[in-house]
Amino acid sequence: MTADRTRDEVAGWWATAVSRIEPGVIELRGHPVQDLIGTTGLTDMIWLMLRGDLPAPRESALLEAALVAGVDHGPQAPSIAIARMAATCGVGLNNAVATGVNVLGDVHGGAGEQCVALLDEICDTGDAAATVARWRARSPYLPGFGHRFHPVDPRRAPLLALVDDAVRDGVVAGRHLAAARAIEELLNARAGRHVPMNIDGATAVIYAELGFAAPLARGLFVLSRSVGILAHAWEETQQGRRIKGPIPPSILPAHLGPGAG
Ligand SMILES: CC(C)(COP(=O)(O)OP(=O)(O)OC[C@H]1O[C@@H](n2cnc3c(N)ncnc32)[C@H](O)[C@@H]1OP(=O)(O)O)[C@@H](O)C(=O)NCCC(=O)NCCS
Repeated sequence: MTADRTRDEVAGWWATAVSRIEPGVIELRGHPVQDLIGTTGLTDMIWLMLRGDLPAPRESALLEAALVAGVDHGPQAPSIAIARMAATCGVGLNNAVATGVNVLGDVHGGAGEQCVALLDEICDTGDAAATVARWRARSPYLPGFGHRFHPVDPRRAPLLALVDDAVRDGVVAGRHLAAARAIEELLNARAGRHVPMNIDGATAVIYAELGFAAPLARGLFVLSRSVGILAHAWEETQQGRRIKGPIPPSILPAHLGPGAG
């Protein structure tokens, strides 16, 4: 192999449209970084890096609302609690944040991705009832609906109001919003009680309306929740506690082994 072919092969191995880095050059999606600094907000940067173009201001506002809404749910959320515990173990902030992010899986934090897939399927088939029936045959719990302790998720109404405005003004089409509302109606009729859209459902509506693929709904939620995780890990670090367990040492887990009462 000639030197030129070797060089081409190695360069092609890491071929990327995301950034161009050369001595004295930093271009992100074709934009010199010096043009972005001071002119471009973080939400626009996230869109630019993921999509390759800059969002319209109203698209950016919708994305930002979803990112703000998901930032934190307190130490009751496993991702926050585990990051705070990690922060007391001497692993440093980077590991504490990674520990929190690592538990954002299919069950905790993954409902948004699943909900985008569900909404996409309803938009593709045009049949909410049949799609819901198909999903409920696999699991009675539809992702993005219901909440363990919020009778109504306080994040739902403001997020949906923003999407309503965006639909009215032609910023987004509104098909995923209509699909999510159709699911809510079907669930409420079936359960005979309110099974409201939760944060994952309402943000899924926004991500789907903006055209993000389902896996990116989880990626965007991870970015958003990382802010809360970092804040909690830092607060815990500053409090100076060492080796914090999941319950205070005065409370012992129930014993199930030999001699259990
Ligand atoms: C979050 C969740 C665990 C809370 O569940 P819960 O409040 O304990 O709900 P319950 O198990 O008491 O269910 C009460 C009724 O509402 C129904 N229900 C609750 N959430 C539902 C959902 N997401 N889809 C369909 N039905 C649902 C249940 O089937 C049940 O009906 P039944 O009484 O006829 O059996 C549950 O709603 C869920 O798994 N949601 C999907 C995952 C999700 O979106 N997670 C993110 C949460 S922020």
